[in-house]
Amino acid sequence: MTQLPDGQPGPPILPTPRLRLRPFTPDDWRDAAVFYTDPEVCRYLYMTADPDGAAVRARLARFADAYRKGGFTLWAAERLGDGRVIGAVVLNPAAEEGEKQVSAGYCFARDCWGSGYATEALGAALAYAFETMGVRRVTARRFAENAASARVLGKAGFRCESQEEPTAGEGRGRSLYQYALTRDEWTRREGEGLDASSG
Ligand SMILES: CC(C)(COP(=O)(O)OP(=O)(O)OC[C@H]1O[C@@H](n2cnc3c(N)ncnc32)[C@H](O)[C@@H]1OP(=O)(O)O)[C@@H](O)C(=O)NCCC(=O)NCCS
Repeated sequence: MTQLPDGQPGPPILPTPRLRLRPFTPDDWRDAAVFYTDPEVCRYLYMTADPDGAAVRARLARFADAYRKGGFTLWAAERLGDGRVIGAVVLNPAAEEGEKQVSAGYCFARDCWGSGYATEALGAALAYAFETMGVRRVTARRFAENAASARVLGKAGFRCESQEEPTAGEGRGRSLYQYALTRDEWTRREGEGLDASSG
């Protein structure tokens, strides 16, 4: 188990071939600002881009607070090669009909897109969700125009379940696709050696 900036326990470090998924620290704000202040990244998320470094610092503090209160589990994706935090992956708790489930999200700095980092980070987060958290189902959603995320979800084995047109919030007026992956489906893929790249 890791420690949050205030010394409280944080999510465990998840190693991947090229990344180290670990909690954000306050010092990460400069790296995190590269993606959280980028409108091109944030237009696919459910948030407005942060206006400056102070807003990013406040965001990182909120992340630690939310984890402490049992909210979401979020990792900074630190690249092993240079120690830079290039993105983030999150599991948000969501209970549905008594089933333990989480929704997954991720984002990466634009200069790092297209190198398989999101696929790698999501794969580790899914293994943690199913094997350690004991989750039965992971959901995800993406805007219709987000073709890169559609591919990431497809490579991880997610199925598209439905489409909606939100009438309020950040997604208002944009088509949104809902995805899901059950533990059974994930376990079967793992057993068949269907790694993310073969999706
Ligand atoms: C979505 C996102 C996380 C993907 O990160 P990434 O590290 O580039 O993802 P990967 O490299 O693992 O995989 C991307 C895949 O999408 C494909 N792709 C990228 N742009 C594409 C496009 N316009 N149309 C179709 N496929 C596309 C890539 O070729 C790659 O597939 P491949 O491995 O078969 O070649 C990144 O684009 C991002 O941060 N976007 C903004 C935030 C966001 O959308 N978050 C998800 C919200 S649902």
